[in-house]
Amino acid sequence: MSTKQRTLELLEKNRGQFLSGAEIAKALNISRNSVWKAIHSLKNEAYQIEAVSNRGYKLTEDNNILSVAGIIPNLLNEDWAANINIFSTLESTNKTAKEMAIQGYDHGTVIIADSQTAGKGRLGRLFHSPSGSGIYLSFILLPESLAFENPTAVTAFAAVAVCEAIETVTEKTPKIKWVNDIFLDGIKICGILTEAISDLENKSFQWIVLGIGINVNTSIDDFPEELRDIAGSIYPDGQIPITRNKLAAALINNILGEPRYGSEQALYEKYKDYLFIIGQKIMVTDRQNTYEATAMDINSVGHLIVKKENGEIVTLVSGEVSIRPQ
Ligand code: BTN
Repeated sequence: MSTKQRTLELLEKNRGQFLSGAEIAKALNISRNSVWKAIHSLKNEAYQIEAVSNRGYKLTEDNNILSVAGIIPNLLNEDWAANINIFSTLESTNKTAKEMAIQGYDHGTVIIADSQTAGKGRLGRLFHSPSGSGIYLSFILLPESLAFENPTAVTAFAAVAVCEAIETVTEKTPKIKWVNDIFLDGIKICGILTEAISDLENKSFQWIVLGIGINVNTSIDDFPEELRDIAGSIYPDGQIPITRNKLAAALINNILGEPRYGSEQALYEKYKDYLFIIGQKIMVTDRQNTYEATAMDINSVGHLIVKKENGEIVTLVSGEVSIRPQ
């Protein structure tokens, strides 16, 4: 890690508090001149650092720049930091993650971008990914390193992990819309896209790329017109009492940390607790058609059981549902 990054990490660990140049120099075993240079270059990168003579330097509370140094203080395991790669902009973090997986990067590699020029959504859609207000993040996961027997459980696992991370850090209460959209107050604030490379000979997945896009403080005006009624963010008014780094760390903790569910059944029970569509009138779009139904339940592998208007019961393995206005 460079002197600049180490200085930032120390300031992040003491966010909101002054550290003297001498303290920083001693902690990092560098000269006062190197401290000054590091601070100067961090300021050039738009970090808000207050410098007061006789008191030193303070990273102010309102910094919201994504950085490994800012994520580390909130990680359960600091070793994970070596596998976190942050970019200011990428076409798509899932695309980069796939390229890196092919190159042999490990389970637990994390790719984060401040913005994406062609963020990928489900069903060939684009995921709107402006700079400065979201977390666009992909994990490279090896199925044998996951806690479940059935790798497809990773989508439900990710949806629960996102909800729990948001709850831990923000005290908001997100919900899941089947399959894995995350909603807050009736509006989508996060999408999840899981992609995999299969080994056809062994009928197994070689690796999985789990992509998560969270709108953290994206203002409604930053969404294209056609999304304004259906997409939102955790803090749409821009007043953000947390940092994106803190939320990203909570997410990494939940995905890479010790398994929190003893069995897939326990995972789906938790998933169901977050699901808000059960009992609601929905519109189902599957490969062939669109029809009205009522969401009844999910089964033990996360498939959605719906009742069509004619009383027929259908189990949906995939597809898209939306809530019908009552
Ligand atoms: C959806 O809602 O349709 C899924 C959206 C998934 C978006 C995330 S952002 C990070 C990762 N990289 C991508 O290109 N897509 C996913």
